[in-house]
Amino acid sequence: MYNAIVSGTGSYVPEKRLTNADLEKMVETNDEWIVTRTGISERRVTEESESTSDLAYVAAKLAIEDAGLTAEDIDLIVVGTVTPDYQFPSVACQLQERLGCREVGSFDVNATCVGFVTALQVAEMYVKLGKHKHVLVVGADTLSKITDYTDRSTCILFGDGAGAFVLSRTDQFIENEGIIYSSIHSKGEHLEGLYVPNGGSRNPKNNTAEGPGIVMDGRKIFKLAVQSMSKTVTETLEASGYQKEQIDWIIPHQANQRIIEAVANQLNYPLEKVISTIKYYGNNSSATIPLAFDLSVKSGKIKRGDLVMQTAFGGGLVWGSLLMKY
Ligand code: UT7
Repeated sequence: MYNAIVSGTGSYVPEKRLTNADLEKMVETNDEWIVTRTGISERRVTEESESTSDLAYVAAKLAIEDAGLTAEDIDLIVVGTVTPDYQFPSVACQLQERLGCREVGSFDVNATCVGFVTALQVAEMYVKLGKHKHVLVVGADTLSKITDYTDRSTCILFGDGAGAFVLSRTDQFIENEGIIYSSIHSKGEHLEGLYVPNGGSRNPKNNTAEGPGIVMDGRKIFKLAVQSMSKTVTETLEASGYQKEQIDWIIPHQANQRIIEAVANQLNYPLEKVISTIKYYGNNSSATIPLAFDLSVKSGKIKRGDLVMQTAFGGGLVWGSLLMKY
């Protein structure tokens, strides 16, 4: 058994900003409603010519550089995404070629907004068991490509972005270093609470005027989000033997500032130690956690040795959390 430590991080968002003022011109909404109900002021969105792999590529390259490695050092590539460039091949496979990696294994994970936590857990197993030395883990999504910009209850939330970690094996096992504990869950009965009905094998016609389009029951998902993230953080604390007072930072999936605050409240955990980047990036699905993590590391907020709890939920419903010493 070895440790799986984060040796490098990187992130990337597209240049283009979609502000609340822009949305006011597209649907019947206003800045005050969006800010008070979601905490979001703007999101980054891709140009028509940009895709998920373009964002993932830059984030991955930065993470590999940050780890002091080259693409040739990477032994496996795992990408969490629900917006791959194509039905197949995977974004991970495209990264293998674009980054110049050896002919290593690569695959995408679809676990909606828990995509990054799930991909990281998969990588954790490979690294801890000693199968691989350096695994590239990416969370990348372009939700703007599947957002219905005539639906004011969803289009105000979503954006695009990417974040990446290099997860590396230590030479010997040291208690409670790197990833300490992770868990993922699902409950498929909530499918219609948040899903993309078109474009898959059940209803393949996605070339309608509206495109594939995310469909969501906002109020239902809100409640499930608060319950599931609070529950999984508590479970992870119990399983790892840590007290919440020992945790330096919680990074929740960035879905709505009110969800983030409700989780902090439910856990009785100080809000100033809960990382929020939603104001400037909105919800970019698998990218929210690695993007928030990388920005916090680069700004000096998260430091080496800090205990960081990631927690996420997403359409399915799926949810999970991961505790690590950075
Ligand atoms: O990765 C996970 C993704 N999803 C989520 O986490 C979403 C979770 N849910 C939410 O974030 C919130 O439910 C929303 C932000 C989607 C909606 O906020 P809410 O406080 O739950 O509002 P609501 O749906 O209860 O709607 C309240 C009112 C309604 O009007 P009436 O019926 O009271 O007259 C809506 O029609 O607000 C109206 N409304 C809007 N008004 C202005 C809904 N969207 C908008 C809008 N601008 N964009």
